[in-house]
Amino acid sequence: MNERIVTNHPLEEDQFETSIRPDSIDEYIGQQEVKENLNIFMQAAKMRGESLDHVLLYGPPGLGKTTLAYIIANEMGVNIKTASGPSIEKSGDLAAILSTLEPGDVLFIDEIHRMPRFIEEILYPAMEDFTLDIIVGSDSSTRNIKIDLPPFTLVGATTRAGDLTSPLRDRFGIVSKLQFYTVEELTEIVKRTSRVLNCEIDENAAIELASRSRGTPRIANRLLKRVRDFALVLGDGNITLDITNLALDKLKVDKLGLDDTDYHLLKAIIEKFNGGPVGIEAIASSIGEEQSTIEDVYEPYLLQIGFLKRTSRGRVVTEKAYEHLKIHKQGTLF
Ligand code: ADE
Repeated sequence: MNERIVTNHPLEEDQFETSIRPDSIDEYIGQQEVKENLNIFMQAAKMRGESLDHVLLYGPPGLGKTTLAYIIANEMGVNIKTASGPSIEKSGDLAAILSTLEPGDVLFIDEIHRMPRFIEEILYPAMEDFTLDIIVGSDSSTRNIKIDLPPFTLVGATTRAGDLTSPLRDRFGIVSKLQFYTVEELTEIVKRTSRVLNCEIDENAAIELASRSRGTPRIANRLLKRVRDFALVLGDGNITLDITNLALDKLKVDKLGLDDTDYHLLKAIIEKFNGGPVGIEAIASSIGEEQSTIEDVYEPYLLQIGFLKRTSRGRVVTEKAYEHLKIHKQGTLF
């Protein structure tokens, strides 16, 4: 199957992302405000000899939430244990992870909004008082037991802060929203990754790649890998602007980073729903994508570049999108 460049999850087998991840906050490019604030909170926790308060990171996929969690653990000089919301199915799964924590450790839970509700309830006392309340035994002889946990830092990541229950959200002392990256920031990331991969890239090639990466480092890095292949086979291994343009055109990534699915989505709204407003369910069924994939992966960037608008009656394609797609809008003069 074709490897999708735009996804809402790191590919399971993707050792690549781990290998190019920055280890320290100084190496992490962009997200200036989030970085500055985190740095203060981490320094203060260290000065007091305490664990860092719980951190919630939210924002579209691929912006570096996992990377930040690893950096927090590194900077605090502690271990990191990782889990994902949907993988914690039983109270025992969470208890097993919590009971391995050492003082100050980071517990990273990705997609925390997908954790079952009854698991969330076990997390509340764990986050607040560092205690684990569990029920042991069966039927006639159940008992509540309380186990003390060491102080730890829960780092939760989600693409949907709105889907968290308020009791869970309220237990995070630090809540940070990650934003799409600027072309300048992505250019720096592309150059940094090229250095890590030991591959030469021209400045204008890095800028071109960055500007076609929809504000997202994960996409920039995945595209860089593919462009590097074109450079090796069709050129001398160095990534030039010509090779970058050729590769990205072959990969059907347009000048703004839009791919086939974005085109399909926008054209469906225009052709089948007269440009909107139309509900997300109708869009999803007309293009055969999951509603959550559209909402989490495609829509945020289309909203960001002003190609889509969300109104109370549904999604609307903007003039700007019509122009980019070179589609004449019905009801207008030209
Ligand atoms: N790789 C992925 N995200 C990054 C970032 N924000 N800074 C540096 N390298 C990255």
